[in-house]
Amino acid sequence: MNKVLTSLLSLGVACTAAMAADAAITALKVTDSLDAIKADSAVWSKAKFSSVTLYPQTAIYMNDKKANALAENVKPKAKKVDVAALYDGKNIALMVKWADGTKDIQKGATTTEYGDGFAVQFAGITKLPEALPYIGMGSAGRPVVVHLQKATEKIYEPNGNKDVGLQINRQQTGVFEKDLAEFDNKVASLANTDYERVFVAEGYRSLTEIKDGSVKSSSEMVHASNTWTGTLSRPLKDEYVNLTGTVPVSIAVWDGSKMNRNGIKNLSAWIAVNLDGQKPNAAMIAELTTDPKGNAVKGKEVAAANGCNGCHQIETTDPTSFMAPSLRFVGGYSSAAYLRESIVKPSAVVVPGYNRNAHSNTPWYNLEKGKRVSTMTDYSHLGKAEVDDIVAYLKTLKAEVE
Ligand code: HEC
Repeated sequence: MNKVLTSLLSLGVACTAAMAADAAITALKVTDSLDAIKADSAVWSKAKFSSVTLYPQTAIYMNDKKANALAENVKPKAKKVDVAALYDGKNIALMVKWADGTKDIQKGATTTEYGDGFAVQFAGITKLPEALPYIGMGSAGRPVVVHLQKATEKIYEPNGNKDVGLQINRQQTGVFEKDLAEFDNKVASLANTDYERVFVAEGYRSLTEIKDGSVKSSSEMVHASNTWTGTLSRPLKDEYVNLTGTVPVSIAVWDGSKMNRNGIKNLSAWIAVNLDGQKPNAAMIAELTTDPKGNAVKGKEVAAANGCNGCHQIETTDPTSFMAPSLRFVGGYSSAAYLRESIVKPSAVVVPGYNRNAHSNTPWYNLEKGKRVSTMTDYSHLGKAEVDDIVAYLKTLKAEVE
């Protein structure tokens, strides 16, 4: 490696030390009930806010060139948000505050205007730091529960499917004019802007909405002074999670004016939330708050020697590639354990990539006996120190904070 590169890289490493993983958050125990807590509930005055960094996730592409280009080519930025947590005997509540100068509301009928939104994600049953679910979507046997709240215009979805106002054939207005007006009035009177959803996922393409009421959560979003405040409360324990000690949580926000939706968003890594007064999970806190032990400068050399950037775009100067997900910002939201697993066991979690029909020559996986098998080279032959070094290097790959 030439001198300029080496010194640039050590500079990069020095910077990342300063922007290390987000610290653990403490959820304060309160005696007030957190059932259906709102943004303006008085109990929030007891909460302490911590800064959490949300990184642009670039692994997922959509069939929308413009949105992809906005996410990929326009230098995407990381975003700082403030997070506070509380818990009572029954529920955990989180408040997320983030700056957003444009209040974007999802409009039911239009397809090119997207609403702002936020999500809070909980790792299902895991207590093992090395076996956290894949961030954002969970992984096989390691489910996540995702609470999503979006800013929408008024909608009415009595069957939990689509807004009924959009399910009407409006061609026949001449015949149904009076009935249609009555119908529209009825829908408007029942509609509300509370677009709240809960999902469970165990890997890509497994996202399933929980509609049977088995999760008793409540969330809302309020926009004031160019800032969104999102709140969520949910049970500490239900069919999907059992939150005790140290709880891995992740936060995502969508910015509608940047065409953010679905996979294109800003996402935090797993954050350790300690339930005040309970026994913390020291191994989990260590995994989520300390930098990996490898040598990032060496890791860059090992990655180059092993041809990682033959398939991946890693540095901004590498060409974009259809072969594999971009790793330009992978260090922001991925845990060290996940990165290690990606290298030595590529098929443990398979990022499915582009629409396979559109890019059939460069699939990111093949189906073997119904199982997705990654097309990535298996690097399990690498020594432990080499893998540690690559992981340390990948963890330095983060977008700048806006
Ligand atoms: C032959 C092409 C190829 C090579 C060489 C390759 N990869 Fe990959 N890699 C892929 C593909 C395809 C995926 C997406 C499918 C999957 O998740 O395994 C992937 C996924 C990943 C992911 C997960 C990305 C995410 O967004 O979650 C990481 C991390 C990764 N590779 C690291 C590496 C490292 C480090 C090297 C070099 C030691 C390497 N890869 C070499 C093809 C490759």
